[in-house]
Amino acid sequence: MEEKISVLIPEEKVDKRIAELGAQISKDYEGQSVHLICVLKGSIMFTCELAKRITIPVTFDFMSCSSYGADTKSSGVVRLVKDLDEPLEGKNVIIIEDIVDSGRTLSYLLEILGARKPATLKLCTLLDKPERRVKPVHVDYTGFEIPDEFVVGYGLDYDQKYRNLPYIGVVEL
Ligand code: IMP
Ligand code: MG
Repeated sequence: MEEKISVLIPEEKVDKRIAELGAQISKDYEGQSVHLICVLKGSIMFTCELAKRITIPVTFDFMSCSSYGADTKSSGVVRLVKDLDEPLEGKNVIIIEDIVDSGRTLSYLLEILGARKPATLKLCTLLDKPERRVKPVHVDYTGFEIPDEFVVGYGLDYDQKYRNLPYIGVVEL
């Protein structure tokens, strides 16, 4: 079935905001380097575009989690599907997320990655739906706060589709 997608945040606005975030991160870590953790698959496009806008040295690693229960159980369990390849000890780690919704994924990631003794650990998300928060998390860098609507594009999917859209759209079901 083809869903109708309406534009919530146009491409130019997303690109401009990512450039601002990249400049901010470059300034905040001036004279240092950052280790970006891309949370697959949703964060892939944001991670690439953000990294292109960071002017200090950047390294990457990738991980993948699956969250159960967001729409079935209220407890919601997050499971690690793919772990990082490299240790975090002594690094300026920034977790890059596509969206913070309930906050379960990020609070889980903060707990397990924080235990690996990074020099610093911050969170950067392209989108935030604060209304949906179940677990409180402190986000250091936010692209856009959005209302409680299901969004796609820029890495975000609906049934694995629409990740390639260069803008943030809303699925009209
Ligand atoms: P959490 O509820 O904060 O743990 O978010 C879990 C994951 O749900 C996010 O990383 C996204 O992959 C996915 N997600 C949450 N809201 C949306 C949405 O509006 N569109 C697409 N994926 C979403
Ligand atoms: Mg995600």
